[in-house]
Amino acid sequence: MMRTRPLKVALLGCGVVGSEVARIMATHADDLTARIGAPVELAGVAVRRPSKVREGIDPALITTDATALVKRGDIDVVVEVIGGIEPARTLITTAFEHGASVVSANKALLAEDGTTLYEAAERHGRDLYFEAAVAGAIPLIRPLRESLAGDKVNRVLGIVNGTTNFILDRMDSAGSGYSEALDEATALGYAEADPTADVEGFDAAAKAAILAGIAFHTRVRLDDVHREGITEVTSADLASAKQMGCTVKLLAICERAADGRSVTARVHPAMIPLSHPLASVREAYNAVFVEADAAGRLMFYGPGAGGSPTASAVLGDLVAVCRNRLNGATGPGESAYTGLPVSGMGEVVTRYHISLDVADKPGVLAQVATVFAEHGVSIDTVRQKGRQDGDGEASLVVVTHRAPDAALSGTVEALRKLDTVRGVASIMRVEGE
Ligand code: HSE
Repeated sequence: MMRTRPLKVALLGCGVVGSEVARIMATHADDLTARIGAPVELAGVAVRRPSKVREGIDPALITTDATALVKRGDIDVVVEVIGGIEPARTLITTAFEHGASVVSANKALLAEDGTTLYEAAERHGRDLYFEAAVAGAIPLIRPLRESLAGDKVNRVLGIVNGTTNFILDRMDSAGSGYSEALDEATALGYAEADPTADVEGFDAAAKAAILAGIAFHTRVRLDDVHREGITEVTSADLASAKQMGCTVKLLAICERAADGRSVTARVHPAMIPLSHPLASVREAYNAVFVEADAAGRLMFYGPGAGGSPTASAVLGDLVAVCRNRLNGATGPGESAYTGLPVSGMGEVVTRYHISLDVADKPGVLAQVATVFAEHGVSIDTVRQKGRQDGDGEASLVVVTHRAPDAALSGTVEALRKLDTVRGVASIMRVEGE
């Protein structure tokens, strides 16, 4: 039966995402009412700049006092799209204290201090939904939390940052250098004026922490995630990858250890074979590959950013939370019952592609191979190319079998000490095989 009293929604933030949320709430009002079983009403919009003209939003709803809005007591759902740690954290916990459920797109806060939010939601018997925090419009949180709740996820491997995927794609397909590709990403509005969060992997690391926590039912914080960005990736790396039938992607990788006793979460550039479904994810798209015991391999693909796609995820959560509210129920909360510890990068086991500049003289290859053997790292292939410039140096590319990251680090440290190794040009992990 349809309820006529509307559910009241407070919107915190009215930027690219918030304005789209408000627009869709207005334009899809009848459908939302039918799907929820009650009308939803925008009851207030907290902004920083009240004088800005916001098309389609009643100016009477605009306020700069977000705290007063979440404390009103008649708000059913607070939608938080302001981002950052504070004041978002305090506003969300205050919203719970005053009886509201929360829909948030705040990956930084969830990765940094999700526990505080989950605990506040639990304490007050309210919902905390955050589909929009990871990979924009792509349904990922709900599939992991609900659809795969009966399965056992072993691995999540994803491209969760559109800006860096665009840059690497341009370097691969157009042969652009890193700076040129970054400039293009900035001109097209993908990269921010300060692109650090994207290119240094912070954005992807926050998403990896959230995904790992949900996939493995444990707590994973941003600090637990090993992070390397793409600023050191060169055209030569892309060319090497091509020679191996691979491309380079910035991957977020969350894995259960082989013995099942711990998990790891990491973000770094990696070579993946062109035959892997993630290799064909072009431009600024995101995709996440999930491997589960019973389901097998699943891939989720789509736009990972932007006002409209992110608002789609927010609205999906809003509908779910409103339905729960009408039913006097709550959806899934935090599930951290496994308490699996997060291991450091040294325990990750993978393959490596190492490019060395070496002296081009007898015995060098044997010396290099010995260092790998001494550290227990087995070599799969070696490719050596003498240089035409007659400087007595050669480029040596070694691809290894699977080995612990700590063993590889030890190998590289020892290689650097060899007189015949003039430099380690690049080290890249090889994933997805
Ligand atoms: N800046 C991100 C990206 C989107 O490029 O994918 C927001 O997480």
